[in-house]
Amino acid sequence: MLLPLLKAAAFAAVLGISTAKPLSSRQKPEPWGFFTNNTIYQTTGRESITYPRYAALGDGTILATASLSGQGGPGYFPIFESTDGGASWAQVSNLTDAVNGWGLSAQPALAELTEEMGGYPAGTILGSGNSWSNNGTRIDLYASTDRARTWEFVSHIAEGGRPNTTNGADPIWEPYLMVYDHQLVCYYSDQRDPLHGQKLAHQTSPDLRTWGPVVNDVAYDLYEARPGMTVVAYLPDPVDQWILVHERPIGNSSSHGVHYPVYYVMADSPLEFGQAVGRPIVVNNQTAPNASPYVVWSSAGGTPYGTIVVSDADRRQVYTNRYGGDPDRWEEHGTPAGAVYSRAIQILEGYPDHLLIYGGETFDDMGLGLHTPFSATVVDLEEVLTMPVDGYDD
Ligand SMILES: *[C@@H]1O[C@H](CO)[C@@H](O)[C@H](O)[C@H]1NC(C)=O
Ligand SMILES: *[C@@H]1O[C@H](CO)[C@@H](O)[C@H](O)[C@H]1NC(C)=O
Ligand SMILES: *[C@@H]1O[C@H](CO)[C@@H](O)[C@H](O)[C@H]1NC(C)=O
Ligand SMILES: *[C@@H]1O[C@H](CO)[C@@H](O)[C@H](O)[C@H]1NC(C)=O
Ligand SMILES: *[C@@H]1O[C@H](CO)[C@@H](O)[C@H](O)[C@H]1NC(C)=O
Ligand SMILES: *[C@@H]1O[C@H](CO)[C@@H](O)[C@H](O)[C@H]1NC(C)=O
Repeated sequence: MLLPLLKAAAFAAVLGISTAKPLSSRQKPEPWGFFTNNTIYQTTGRESITYPRYAALGDGTILATASLSGQGGPGYFPIFESTDGGASWAQVSNLTDAVNGWGLSAQPALAELTEEMGGYPAGTILGSGNSWSNNGTRIDLYASTDRARTWEFVSHIAEGGRPNTTNGADPIWEPYLMVYDHQLVCYYSDQRDPLHGQKLAHQTSPDLRTWGPVVNDVAYDLYEARPGMTVVAYLPDPVDQWILVHERPIGNSSSHGVHYPVYYVMADSPLEFGQAVGRPIVVNNQTAPNASPYVVWSSAGGTPYGTIVVSDADRRQVYTNRYGGDPDRWEEHGTPAGAVYSRAIQILEGYPDHLLIYGGETFDDMGLGLHTPFSATVVDLEEVLTMPVDGYDD
């Protein structure tokens, strides 16, 4: 799926860009520096880390968590903190299930309240995830008023049937939290609607406790299409729109060599994606990212539009667009980081060229005892934008 080395090198030569490995990726972690595979948490025993998530706090602190499997007993989300741009990390708590007795099984989400809501002050940390058992799936909301040291249960956001990815079953999955217009928005994947094998929807709450109706974000007419795994970002002026990325498998079909092609929709409001047309990310009519995407935006990149950066589940590379989401302007660039199931990426606040890529294991590697750690890689986005697809391969 990657361009052959010679072709890539020739391509790079034509553009006058360097294929040499940047020194920055080999340095030891310095605060707010660039570094590769800096361990946040080393798994042991049968543990695997996948599905990293984070909250970027207003003061520059990062709180990061992930799905931890194989730890034995009910699932929980270990919470880590960095106050120096990902160079050093400390575990500050575990977010545990306080109400269902099912554990917080997988698919964490974190956010910071940027304004008072429901009696919780600005600066409250919100946590969610999927709590499941043979009796159902529950997306629950927790809050911490002491910077993620302790947590309390706030509300059940949504509930579905037992975990089962077969069309016709009715579970829910994969919450994504965002504060917007004085409400908390919880996006998630929803198999409860008999019209759709799976769709993407959201609910909003003005007080963190009462939740409004299920509003569709992405629901394809084709029943077998299973859009999944919402992540949302804002694209400022001159685009001034919101982008939602998702995977879109349809049975066993494949597109540009992938079975879970990554699609995106754009809209003026993050509460009104429902009418937007889904478009696949395809590079040079040839390569497409596969599964569990993440999206961020940076002002870096050298065009008035800044850069949309998308990550997928299977590749070390990132997918970038410096033309406001123009479907013909997607590029693929190498990074020194590894592929991770639902690999979160982050642009560090105040450092538009600092792209943080979270490390862990791929879906297929989960449970094999590889012990790939939970890690943080910070690369220079401007440098990444000059790299050919295999520019960092060893
Ligand atoms: C998190 O839970 C694990 C397993 O029970 C425990 O070993 C660890 O000490 C806990 N960490 C914190 C910060 O509570
Ligand atoms: C599932 O529900 C049944 C019936 O209410 C109950 O007996 C059982 O303990 C529940 N199991 C779990 C894991 O919640
Ligand atoms: C999963 O859902 C399908 C479709 O409803 C159903 O046929 C199957 O029995 C379910 N599997 C389990 C283990 O519940
Ligand atoms: C997918 O492929 C498997 C194995 O070839 C087949 O049994 C199954 O029916 C296919 N499913 C769909 C939805 O096409
Ligand atoms: C993209 O590739 C397909 C299949 O190789 C080809 O039919 C199509 O003409 C190509 N489109 C463009 C715009 O190059
Ligand atoms: C970083 O870790 C990944 C495994 O997640 C590995 O594939 C990659 O080669 C590592 N990068 C470097 C530069 O060592």
